[in-house]
Amino acid sequence: MIKRVLARLEDFFYRNILKNLLKLSRLGYGTIVTGAESGANFEHMYDNRPNGKFIIGRIIDKALLDLPSVKATRGRKEDIKRVLWNEIHNNKLMNKKTYVLDLASGGARYLRELVEEHRSGDVESICIDKDKKCVTLGKNLAAREQLSNIRFFRGDIFHLAHLKKISSQILWKPNVVIASGLFIYFNNEATGKMLREIYEFLPFEGLVIFSSYENLSSRKLMRKVASTSSGEEWTLYYRKPDYWRDLLHQIGYRQIFILRDQWQMNNICTARK
Ligand SMILES: C[S@@+](CC[C@H](N)C(=O)[O-])C[C@H]1O[C@@H](n2cnc3c(N)ncnc32)[C@H](O)[C@@H]1O
Repeated sequence: MIKRVLARLEDFFYRNILKNLLKLSRLGYGTIVTGAESGANFEHMYDNRPNGKFIIGRIIDKALLDLPSVKATRGRKEDIKRVLWNEIHNNKLMNKKTYVLDLASGGARYLRELVEEHRSGDVESICIDKDKKCVTLGKNLAAREQLSNIRFFRGDIFHLAHLKKISSQILWKPNVVIASGLFIYFNNEATGKMLREIYEFLPFEGLVIFSSYENLSSRKLMRKVASTSSGEEWTLYYRKPDYWRDLLHQIGYRQIFILRDQWQMNNICTARK
């Protein structure tokens, strides 16, 4: 009886008090109203500049941006950037250009921050996202940063036929495929199918890079207050590194490398065809 009352009180606190307070902050508003997984929300986490309504909104935003789970998101972006940077420069050594396909790209910050590599033409990137707003955001940011060889397209990455069509239109085949911040939203069947299709799609020696969560310190907060951009219920899938290691090995990938971040939240997985 007491337990039930406490649970109701807690629910009331999250839904009626905390939710309204959090909405005053930029990240809270994005997470609760416009969709926690949206590319714009992630750009704000990467920018790490507190913003919100009134001083209280900015203070709450600063607290949210300092949460370990948000720090881990910024850390994940840095790790992906390092892997990409390394691949681009190794390819360059062998007179090979790097062609990146970013699946569910959002604003593709980890690519856009490789400014020199894109401007020098050592890498060319295509970014796909199903959300029209993300595509517009990515296009505008890349234009503002004068990055002409990062292009954004709208598309559902679970229709790989669509990717093949895009690939034939741009006259190149990616030798790197990224999926960052995506697999947490999809079950084992969908992610396994996607990794198999990427394997088929990649040339020999091609690299897949993806991130996955094994834990999220703000799980409870997300469950209680967050909404998806489609308004659907949150279902998040946490997986351990060994799950990916086995799956990648089964599919036929080689040189599997899984990096666990310092927060024990994100795993950055890379593997070659
Ligand atoms: C959490 S954000 C990650 C953005 C970016 N990759 C990053 O790590 O910063 C997830 C993105 O996946 C996109 N997305 C989700 N399902 C998708 C699908 N089936 N096809 C294409 N994009 C999808 C969402 O629109 C959103 O922009």
